[in-house]
Amino acid sequence: MVKINLKLLKKQAQEEIKESGDLKFLNEVFKRYLGKGGELTFVLRSLEKLPKARRVKVGKEANEIKNDLIIQFDKKTREIEQKVQKEAEEKEWLDITAPGKRPLVGHLNPLTLARRDVEDIFQSMGFSVIEGPQMESEWYNFDALNIPKDHPARDAWDTFYLKNGLLLRTHTSPVQVRFMEKHNPPLRIIVPGPVFRHEATDPSHEFELFQVEGLMVDKDISAANFKATVREFFSRFFRKEVDFRLRPDYFPFTEPSFDISISCVVCGGKGCSTCKKTGFVEVAGAGMVHPNVFKAAGLNPKNWQGWAFGFGLERLTMMKYKINDIRLFRSGDLRFLQQF
Ligand code: FA5
Repeated sequence: MVKINLKLLKKQAQEEIKESGDLKFLNEVFKRYLGKGGELTFVLRSLEKLPKARRVKVGKEANEIKNDLIIQFDKKTREIEQKVQKEAEEKEWLDITAPGKRPLVGHLNPLTLARRDVEDIFQSMGFSVIEGPQMESEWYNFDALNIPKDHPARDAWDTFYLKNGLLLRTHTSPVQVRFMEKHNPPLRIIVPGPVFRHEATDPSHEFELFQVEGLMVDKDISAANFKATVREFFSRFFRKEVDFRLRPDYFPFTEPSFDISISCVVCGGKGCSTCKKTGFVEVAGAGMVHPNVFKAAGLNPKNWQGWAFGFGLERLTMMKYKINDIRLFRSGDLRFLQQF
């Protein structure tokens, strides 16, 4: 029989139990001493080969060690289990008195707020809100608006042409013709929606923008009606009287034509990058509906008069909220959006 120093074995086993940091390691130690092929098991199995007197002595000692080690294994197992549980509790500890985290709440884009405002104001003045296609034909976007092919005025709108022969509408004016084709006057509509221009961007120009077209057709409609409507709209949209001016302009689909500018709120009219140092920001084109547009829509220009406008919604919104760069609207910057 191999001679085994039981005292040394006990000491080693005790030390290894003591050093065990987790259950896996402790199991290994258990197997090494008390498992089927374990060192102490081997001693116990070999007892029968010893002479009787020695067998009794060694057997007693080995069994005592076995019992002692089992107690120590149990103790260590409980210790490790308690340690693991305590660590888990510390990790998962919840301070129910801690103040909660405020959840991020979405904000409406100021353009949406402004669009809703514009729609409410015009609806209260008897205008209907109409939509039209964003993918448009050359006929509605240009020809029907008195801008025939090869007319230099087409250059005023840098156009995205599509492979399918259509284009992305450059303004909301085509909806004037589409609507008049199907509805007899008198009529009052506004048409809010996106338009697209192949343009470089700067603080006051975007290549995708929102316009709000307005159209009023009736008997005896004059530019005075137009001016009164715009004044009323501005005072309700800005919630105060604003300084605005109409200047002669040129659009092939209106005669006479104007542009509408308002005193720049960003600099108070002193001149800045938003108003290009002019103190005024152009917010719309407008005019009296051209007879050729009535004709294109199948109406007799002798029977009807009308005015139309096309506001840039971004520019209006910039003036309302003192926003100095149009590119902020679509920047996705939460620091900007959270202010509204
Ligand atoms: C037009 O688009 C005409 N359809 C407006 C009109 C309608 C005239 C009905 C007469 C009758 P204009 O290109 O000027 O016109 O654009 C109208 C407004 O859209 C401008 O005053 C401006 O406020 C806005 N706008 C135009 N281009 C841009 C741009 N690139 N970025 C931001 N706003 C723009």
